[in-house]
Amino acid sequence: MTVLYKANMVRGAEWARFFAERAPDLPFRLWPDIGNPADIRYLVAWVPPEDIATTFPHLELVFSVGAGVDQFDATKLPPHLPLIRMLEPGIAETMVEYVTMAVLGLHRDLLHFIAQQREQVWREIRITPAKRRGVGVMGLGQLGHAVLERLRAFGFPLFGWNRSPREIPGVTCYVGVDTLPRFLSQTDILICLLPLTEETRGILNADLFARLPRGAGLVSVGRGPQLVEADFLAALDTGLLSGAVLDVTEPEPLPAGHPFWSHPRILLTPHNASMTMPDTAVDFVLDAIARHRRGEELPGLVDRTRGY
Ligand code: GLV
Repeated sequence: MTVLYKANMVRGAEWARFFAERAPDLPFRLWPDIGNPADIRYLVAWVPPEDIATTFPHLELVFSVGAGVDQFDATKLPPHLPLIRMLEPGIAETMVEYVTMAVLGLHRDLLHFIAQQREQVWREIRITPAKRRGVGVMGLGQLGHAVLERLRAFGFPLFGWNRSPREIPGVTCYVGVDTLPRFLSQTDILICLLPLTEETRGILNADLFARLPRGAGLVSVGRGPQLVEADFLAALDTGLLSGAVLDVTEPEPLPAGHPFWSHPRILLTPHNASMTMPDTAVDFVLDAIARHRRGEELPGLVDRTRGY
């Protein structure tokens, strides 16, 4: 009955400490010190080890240490083995902070002011009231929901777009691909919080940018391959987009000299928008293990056919 952790090692030491405190009877191991592989019942991983199924014959649950699971090759996991996304509140809280920063930064022309300051230019920019700036979130899972709830306080007209129906007070929610143009036409600041799937790969493309109000802002916090780089740079050049905050790119990190590094209309961060917090994540994992033992429904269970 052992838990194996294979992700960031500094935070792994914290995971070990919280496990020792909260579940002293549950052995916890840090990769690569796996002990007897036959003892491993629960795996918490960012990039999973090769040959999970053959290496760990008694594995019962696999947890992604992050909110996304696209880094797991589902074809290599036995179909019966539950894969669980990290639905812990620390990720949501940090994502809410980042997206709020990005939305307010775009709303209040931060990229312009940074450029002006570099040039020693003192020039005011007319302020647009929040009530005239539509903010839309693609992907209304735990993170998208939390972001919209918090953005409500600023008075932006709020929109959400999702594959399946969602209801969020104060947010006009759209469902399915047919409604995408209507959603986009009202979205002055677009936030992408979609999981990476075959349907969302390349979704941030020329056609989508052309459907946004001219001069829209983009916050990309899903996954890098969702953004079509050439279309995006063209949209910035032609003014379809006025600025973007990117936390995810393809590849990560970007190579030296890549145009995103120095583009004056792009604020780039190193996949740092949100982070799993060991304190709350350990509670989530322990709760899921307890539910699994009781044969109950598992929170964050990935639907393999859907891909998230
Ligand atoms: C990070 O991107 C995550 O999936 O949590």
